[in-house]
Amino acid sequence: MTEFSTSPGTRDILAPEAARWREFQSVFADVVGLAGYDYMIPPMFEDLGVFLRLGESTEVVTKEMYDFEDKGGRRVALRPEQTASVCRAFVEHRPTTPWKVWYAGPNFRYEKPQQGRYRQFDQVGIEVLGVEDPYLDAEVIALAMEFYKRLGLKKVELNINSLGDFGDREKYAVALSAYFQQHSKSLSPESQSTLVKNPLRVLDSKRGQDQEVIAAAPRISDFLSSDASEHFQKVLSALQLHKVDFAINDRLVRGLDYYRRTTFEFNSIALQSAHTALGGGGRYNGLVEALGGPATPGIGFALGLDRTLLACDAEGVFDAPSVAVKVFVVDTTGGEQAARLSSELRTAGISVDRAFDDRSMKAQMKAADRSGSAIAIIVGSDEVAADTVIVRLMTGGQQRVVSRSALVDEIRRELKLS
Ligand code: HAM
Repeated sequence: MTEFSTSPGTRDILAPEAARWREFQSVFADVVGLAGYDYMIPPMFEDLGVFLRLGESTEVVTKEMYDFEDKGGRRVALRPEQTASVCRAFVEHRPTTPWKVWYAGPNFRYEKPQQGRYRQFDQVGIEVLGVEDPYLDAEVIALAMEFYKRLGLKKVELNINSLGDFGDREKYAVALSAYFQQHSKSLSPESQSTLVKNPLRVLDSKRGQDQEVIAAAPRISDFLSSDASEHFQKVLSALQLHKVDFAINDRLVRGLDYYRRTTFEFNSIALQSAHTALGGGGRYNGLVEALGGPATPGIGFALGLDRTLLACDAEGVFDAPSVAVKVFVVDTTGGEQAARLSSELRTAGISVDRAFDDRSMKAQMKAADRSGSAIAIIVGSDEVAADTVIVRLMTGGQQRVVSRSALVDEIRRELKLS
């Protein structure tokens, strides 16, 4: 046992998995870059008040926040998500609209750690501020689906719903609360306590005991204003233009309180675990105002990196990229030749590693093997005298003598770089 190990719900991400994380973000950057989204980096902690705007009946706020007083007496919190920070930044900087941004990075929620659920987890996401158009809702959703496609995922389902405008949602919550209260004796104790805090979240219950009551509960679709309903229909038609399949799920309420109108979630049907939601999002018209800004519509999504990679594993796609260097230099003359050769090859853009500490030929060859390199360059005193090196192919073991002056070209040819 070592004295220290990672805290519950956090992990060290080592090679090659860490390279896979970078690749994940880079594919996302490509996809959203093609649609004109700019990268932004919100801070990892903010004034607690920013996150309180996520809603007082949200578990993310009431139970899971990493909040503390800093040494200056400020009440701050590690970000549990990034939408609130993006809206706070919008109010602070007042960029021209439409403001289209993407972000990536860790978030923190004090949840019960398990497979697919961590206390520090990564997301990539986009947000658009200042546009009400239902074509945007469809574009935002289509970008997420395009990203999944680029990863190679085939088993991702889109669930979509409209939560209506503020008044619609409120009326629905009142009706739902009355209904559940009438049937509270048939609900599980957990759902009875959820009911007091947020009747909408009772719809999320997966407990068998609750299912009959939930099945007969009032439906949000009966509470939508004609504007909200028309908006939703236009989003659905536009999704068809983007050739995105969807399932309308009028029980989808999502965990954050800020959603209005379009809400959606991406679920993996390849994952067996309890946590199949790879990502989600929706409209949050009203959040910018709640943070002190002008009335501004907003929409976006965040995709969980950790969970999406579990889905990639389950589907056998998007493997970790190779982190092996192409060339390994074995120098039996003391190390100076390895320094010269590796520097020359790296300048030519070829990845190179080498051994240190003047180890034996055998030990260096073993290190070359372990490095996973395609080629070993071997140099001893005979080669130095003849101004040559030995180029050895690690698979097959063929080797030949190459003059120093032709080395870079030879290696490039061998690696098919030119
Ligand atoms: P969210 O549904 O809370 O939405 O999180 C989005 C995704 O982040 C989830 O579907 C899941 O994949 C991942 N995630 C959340 N919590 C954890 C956890 N503890 N461990 C592992 N993965 C997790 C939001 O965060 C909103 N900000 C999305 C949004 C953006 N809505 C509008 N714009």
